[in-house]
Amino acid sequence: MTVYDEIDDARAASLAAIAAAADLDGLTAIESQLFGKKSALGGLKRLMGQVEADERASVGQALNAAQQAVRAAHDDARASFAAAARRVQLETERLDLTEAPSAPALGHLHLVTQATERLEDVFVGMGFTVSEGPQAETDWYNFEALNLPAAHPARSMFDTLYLDLGDRTEIGDGEGGEATNVLLRTHTSPVQIRVMENQEPPIYTVCPGRVFRRDTADASHMPVFHQIEGLVVDRGISFRDLAGTLNDFTAAYFGSSITSRLRPSYFPFTEPSAEFDITCVICEGDGCQTCQRTGWIELGGCGMVHPNVLGNCGIDSEEWTGFAFGFGIDRLALMRHGIDDLRDMYTNDVRFLSQF
Ligand code: PHE
Repeated sequence: MTVYDEIDDARAASLAAIAAAADLDGLTAIESQLFGKKSALGGLKRLMGQVEADERASVGQALNAAQQAVRAAHDDARASFAAAARRVQLETERLDLTEAPSAPALGHLHLVTQATERLEDVFVGMGFTVSEGPQAETDWYNFEALNLPAAHPARSMFDTLYLDLGDRTEIGDGEGGEATNVLLRTHTSPVQIRVMENQEPPIYTVCPGRVFRRDTADASHMPVFHQIEGLVVDRGISFRDLAGTLNDFTAAYFGSSITSRLRPSYFPFTEPSAEFDITCVICEGDGCQTCQRTGWIELGGCGMVHPNVLGNCGIDSEEWTGFAFGFGIDRLALMRHGIDDLRDMYTNDVRFLSQF
């Protein structure tokens, strides 16, 4: 059975489940079975790693097509159940004007979860796998393996939250058994290290997840937020591939009127490094308040993976080269929907959340 057959089967099973749902509650009850990580199609997404590299783009496209078909069927079914429910409600109101009808309270995925899933879908469509790692990390994975030794000045770029493990403030990290601190990861870059340790190149993967910094909450900062990291390691990868991938991604996610540009920057784990900006999604480059009249919005960091980082993961930097990029998911969702205060996403006011 080919992977395409598996995708067809998963699509057919999902469509059958939708057809079998009796009402709105029934549809809601099968949502995680249809769209969750453990769903038939979600499971296949995570199997992308086992697909041959040159097949990944077309398998990714087939997966996306199947997912869209399932979403469309789900939306249609929801719309027709909702219309039926409205008809019943109208009928009831017509007969009994004295009693307030109770609208069914239906929830949906949080804005940040929706953004993460869309990002995963776009990258899977481009042939990437999805990787995950722990939120509590060691010094080694969060800093040292990424070419940030203890005394490196760039560590002050990250306001780190260290975990208090009681008497056991230090554990062995497995790297020669040395003691190390345990902390909440400050970025998704440690997942790069875990992937490179466990997987031979070629590697094409994205790592979405929650990250933590000791920031005071304000309109554009939260102590807990989300990033997505991209990592490519292959033979003959150059800066051109990085710029092209970011451009393709930007067009796929935001539409073809949005492009990206790179500006020289510094990260200890990439050399050379850059910040990447995208055309302001609010004014499409004309200049507005959101982009401070520049027409551009800063999205994240990127660069060519530093040879020391490859070496730390046992990858020969003479044979393999790669690039990495990382950006904030919350901020991306904020821009996409023109929200002006990040804190609104997390105060859990249903009147705000239900708009998205
Ligand atoms: N980890 C960096 C940050 O959180 C972003 C980044 C990722 C930069 C990958 C370069 C390459 O700021």
